[in-house]
Amino acid sequence: MCGIVGAIRSHHNVVDFLTDGLKRLEYRGYDSSGIAVQTETGIRRVRRVGRVALMEEAAKNKEIYGLTGIGHTRWATHGGVTEPNAHPHISAGLISVVHNGIIENFEAEKARLEALGYEFESQTDTEVIAHSVHYEYTHNGGDLYRAVQTACSRFQGAYAIAVIANDKPNQMVVARMGCPLLIAFGEDEVFIASDVSAVIAFTRRVTYLEDGDIALLHADGIQKLLDKDGNDANRSIRTSELSLASLELGPYSHFMQKEINEQPRAVSDTAEIFLDGGFIAENFGEQAAQIFAEINSIKILACGTSYYAALTGKYWLESIAKIRCDVEIASEYRYREVIADPKELIITISQSGETLDTMEALKYAMTQGHQYSLSICNVMESALPRNSTLAIFTRAGAEIGVASTKAFTTQLVVLFGLAVTLGIVRGQVDDERADGYAEDLRLLPGSIQHALNLEPQLATWAQSFANKPSALFLGRGIHYPIALEGALKLKELTYIHAEAYPAGELKHGPLALVDENMPVVVISPNDGLLDKVKANMQEVSARGGELFVLSDLDSDFTASDGIHVIRTPRHIGILSPIVHTIAVQLLSYHVALVRGTDVDKPRNLAKSVTVE
Ligand code: F6R
Repeated sequence: MCGIVGAIRSHHNVVDFLTDGLKRLEYRGYDSSGIAVQTETGIRRVRRVGRVALMEEAAKNKEIYGLTGIGHTRWATHGGVTEPNAHPHISAGLISVVHNGIIENFEAEKARLEALGYEFESQTDTEVIAHSVHYEYTHNGGDLYRAVQTACSRFQGAYAIAVIANDKPNQMVVARMGCPLLIAFGEDEVFIASDVSAVIAFTRRVTYLEDGDIALLHADGIQKLLDKDGNDANRSIRTSELSLASLELGPYSHFMQKEINEQPRAVSDTAEIFLDGGFIAENFGEQAAQIFAEINSIKILACGTSYYAALTGKYWLESIAKIRCDVEIASEYRYREVIADPKELIITISQSGETLDTMEALKYAMTQGHQYSLSICNVMESALPRNSTLAIFTRAGAEIGVASTKAFTTQLVVLFGLAVTLGIVRGQVDDERADGYAEDLRLLPGSIQHALNLEPQLATWAQSFANKPSALFLGRGIHYPIALEGALKLKELTYIHAEAYPAGELKHGPLALVDENMPVVVISPNDGLLDKVKANMQEVSARGGELFVLSDLDSDFTASDGIHVIRTPRHIGILSPIVHTIAVQLLSYHVALVRGTDVDKPRNLAKSVTVE
């Protein structure tokens, strides 16, 4: 959610880094972007509404050259998508700021600064940071670090900011509170970014700031770094393992296409956690065995696609481990009265590990009396695993497409493995069954590959959806969350209204929607509910609805007038939700291609939602 970059270089034009970094961060927000660069003739700023490429073109035309600069790609929160609202924001031609997050008390701050004579050009909360720092800077004899420190002490909310002053060449001050920010070290140059992918083409050596940290940077590194209590802080430098290739498209047309096709590898890598190490608690950290033996129930908190992973995981946790599991949308949980149970394990699921609603829900759960938490996350160093008792990292690799694909299926693998592990700890799974589950995991990448091979058939189906205003997704049991995921993917990628229902609910209302304009996707492998789903399908056919059935070899469906069937080549059994996910991803991808929507950057969305 918004991307920040910045650099102090000794020899090379900073514009090249800023534009490259912003393009790599564009998935975090893409409604406008901008850069501000210290040049021999003063600060020069370029901002554009739309994609980074437009801003890059404008910067090129202006032939800007400088060694120090900051940049930003925006996902609008306060104020519409306009050039004046785009970052960087500049105060009195002197102080330039980029900001990720939200200053919650910005209205009070704005009033205070207006009373001091500042005029506001934008509707953003960020402009108060620029003016506030400017005021402090011009009233304290020009100490940029102290100006940022004093300004930050006034702000409530979450932020990662980078600040430069026109008259302080080769200096930058950065601050972090609640939003990720890292410093990266090259040869005679220092970079900052909200995400390591922005710097990886330049260096792998990174330091992650902690909440409350404020740092003064020069080209040769960190000059001063104080923590939230004002004490000197020493943050370790690590070598990032992210590969540049994982951030490039390679032979694919879209990151989503690449990431869908990476799933056999991502799932197999994630399954290794359990296949290499066995289904043992120690896979999840030192304390895991003790915690798993102690808990009596689980509550999973998550948002969006990760929430649907949680809904799927509930079936495995309850049926395999026989442990009660509740699943809640994080943004709802955090605002209601809850009855905490110290023996209930809180699990958060998040691809990014940054989702503010999930983070706040976790904090809330812990203040209400829960003792233990476990984070299932795809991003090392992110906030959720850092703030949890235990962590399991999915091995999906970088996910750039805004719509989650491989992160979802790898979350499912972890939830399945966790269910088996807990089943063993709780005496519900014996060695023979554990071996059977391991075999299921071993076969899974192959089954996913089979599902990927169905792409041509799904592409044909896509033609029937592309001109429809709505679509319905049905599933029962453990496939109902996959219907929800299918509907979400179709909505976000194609802007077609889509809803998902448990198939049994159809007759209780949504059947009224069914006519020849409402394609109905049914996820219906041969599980214990097949006959029930078939009865629900009759209800659709009888009303003239067109059915698109995703099923498996054993399910005995034949295509006929108004009923289209695609079958996976073998019956998958307990991991069938993961395999059927591939089909709904591919369907949405191809409908998006037919409609010509932006597959990787759906309108109004951004990856990593770090605001409420
Ligand atoms: C949809 C999608 C979102 C995210 C949600 C939570 O394709 O990606 O619904 O799942 O914003 O994000 P994380 O998992 O990063 O917490």
